Amino acid sequence: MKRACVIGWPVAHSRSPVIHRYWLKFYGLDGAYELEAVPPEEAGSFFKNLGKRGYAGANVTLPHKETALSAATHADQAAKAIGAANTLWLDDSGLLHATNTDAYGFMTHLAEVAPDWNKAGRPVMVLGAGGAARAILHGLIQAAGAKITLANRTTTRASALAQSFGPRISVVAWEERNGALAGCGLVVNATSLGMTGRPPLSIDLSALPLDATVADIVYSPLETPLLAAAKARRNRVVDGLGMLLHQAVPGFERWFGVRPAVTPELRAHVAAHLEAS
Ligand SMILES: NC(=O)c1ccc[n+]([C@@H]2O[C@H](COP(=O)([O-])OP(=O)(O)OC[C@H]3O[C@@H](n4cnc5c(N)ncnc54)[C@H](OP(=O)(O)O)[C@@H]3O)[C@@H](O)[C@H]2O)c1
Repeated sequence: MKRACVIGWPVAHSRSPVIHRYWLKFYGLDGAYELEAVPPEEAGSFFKNLGKRGYAGANVTLPHKETALSAATHADQAAKAIGAANTLWLDDSGLLHATNTDAYGFMTHLAEVAPDWNKAGRPVMVLGAGGAARAILHGLIQAAGAKITLANRTTTRASALAQSFGPRISVVAWEERNGALAGCGLVVNATSLGMTGRPPLSIDLSALPLDATVADIVYSPLETPLLAAAKARRNRVVDGLGMLLHQAVPGFERWFGVRPAVTPELRAHVAAHLEAS
């Protein structure tokens, strides 16, 4: 039986088991997906002994994504550019490989819901400068030539991020975010604002063109206050659940040998789980 797990500290909140166990059952595979709560001081040795623990690979969540990257023998371009790994697998020789599938997950869902999001090559606005924002910026830069405006509460963090990605990204002060929406074709909330238990993202969408797409990577609640406001003025919206589902695909394929599909049934299953918790 093949086994994979999600490694984090804490880890109980992870939605990954709900997704991977759904696929294991759906495809009738002899596999298991487990939760591993690993404290930071043990993470390095846990990764090195992943095979000995009987795992074919793992997902990695906070706070271990950087440790996972440095523990891997081979990291792909996405993991290196994002500076963090969320998916690991062992090859036939027992070497540990790392990737980061957040950019893939975000871009795949964006292309599915809003295939023409970049048709006119208009500027993109990204809010946030944490780990998830870094992945989103990597995905956007790989996919399109559009100019990207970045705003974050802590401007120095946005500037450091912009610098590491090069001249395509320009930073605006957090206080300037409303005006900077003028002419944008896409706006992405990559902050944690709007999450259940957190304040909503405070933003005035008036300057945003009505045909722009509004994406939120927060998936709990499924409809964040930002998405509700965007919907009310008839902007097209992209929620965070699709990213969560698509980012899980490459890992499952590596560990269990089947490329799983992101279907409306999986989406409903995970959405029901989110609602119940
Ligand atoms: N859909 C998915 O698959 C997916 C994947 C990854 C993450 N996410 C979600 O994305 C969100 C961000 O994750 P992360 O890992 O990037 O977190 P993070 O590294 O902790 O970054 C948090 C970001 O939110 C900003 N922020 C927090 N509180 C704020 C406030 N009161 N006012 C203004 N800005 C505030 C931070 O700004 P400062 O720099 O100023 O602190 C920072 O930019 C989380 O909600 C996470 O669940 C979703």
